Amino acid sequence: MQNVLITGGSGLIGRALSSMLQSKGYKVSWLSRHQHPRSEYSCFAWDIDNAYIDEKAFENVDFIVHLAGAGIADKRWTKTQKKIIIDSRVASTKLLLSYIQKLKISLKAFISSSAIGFYGSVTGEMIFEENNPPGNDFIAKVCRLWEGAIVEFQKENIRTVAIRTGIVLSAKGGALMKMKTPVITPLGNGLQYMPWIHMKDLCSLYIQAIEDSSMNGVYNGVAPEHQNNSSFSKEFAMVFKRPFLPVGAPAFVLKAAFGEMSTILLNGSRVSSDKIQSTGFKFEYPLLKDALVSLR
Ligand SMILES: NC(=O)c1ccc[n+]([C@@H]2O[C@H](COP(=O)([O-])OP(=O)(O)OC[C@H]3O[C@@H](n4cnc5c(N)ncnc54)[C@H](OP(=O)(O)O)[C@@H]3O)[C@@H](O)[C@H]2O)c1
Repeated sequence: MQNVLITGGSGLIGRALSSMLQSKGYKVSWLSRHQHPRSEYSCFAWDIDNAYIDEKAFENVDFIVHLAGAGIADKRWTKTQKKIIIDSRVASTKLLLSYIQKLKISLKAFISSSAIGFYGSVTGEMIFEENNPPGNDFIAKVCRLWEGAIVEFQKENIRTVAIRTGIVLSAKGGALMKMKTPVITPLGNGLQYMPWIHMKDLCSLYIQAIEDSSMNGVYNGVAPEHQNNSSFSKEFAMVFKRPFLPVGAPAFVLKAAFGEMSTILLNGSRVSSDKIQSTGFKFEYPLLKDALVSLR
């Protein structure tokens, strides 16, 4: 039996991935800031600020999947919140590596989330691929620092994969549930792209990254069908049988309400799924309509 330690396993993606891994015969454990007495997985403590991890977490571990990170859209991006967003991803990655080195753990692979925000939120027709440089906004900086810490695992001869994840569609939370307003409208001019992926496909992608030892480096975790905010909202309204108002929520209102965070609502890049498809990965939900119907 292969052992997978998941940081942030208690989160939206972590819970779905834990369950899929367990159903495939993996032994799953979590690294968490909290105790989860009702969880069916062993749970080990860590404290990133105090550079502490319960060493028992690493006993017989084969793979680490690093999903921990403070919610990007949970709070306004004050200076303090920006530090929390960065540290929860970057300091946590460095802390994991320091324990791997100290305890001389021979991991089969370190697999981490990153985000399509790496490219910056750039509305336009350019389709970003994995070898494109990072953008300039705050989330691009977060992802650049995050991936900079992830890549250090390679120096320990550990196979390392980072999944630049798009908007994850799940019936259990996340962006989709926030969209469930009584009337659906686009945001701003609606032209910003919304690279998305169905939760089931994302979990399958993580499992492929675990099982396929030829996977190495960075992969975009997005579905092949490109949707902008307007077409996404229309499809959403149709599938969830809600009225659609084509007039977008004004950009200035969103800017006033969310401050700098409004950039991720009002702008969005197109992102390619070619690289992951070239590994042989098959999407169960390549089309938004089918993905939404499955989550109704
Ligand atoms: N969901 C999406 O649409 C999406 C899109 C792109 C990228 N991602 C990335 O994928 C990863 C997982 O996403 P998710 O949607 O599952 O997130 P989530 O539901 O918010 O869960 C993240 C987990 O991270 C841990 N965490 C939260 N704040 C933390 C902090 N300050 N320090 C350390 N750990 C903290 C928590 O676990 P404990 O409370 O157990 O410690 C939490 O359950 C995140 O890094 C996220 O940025 C998600």
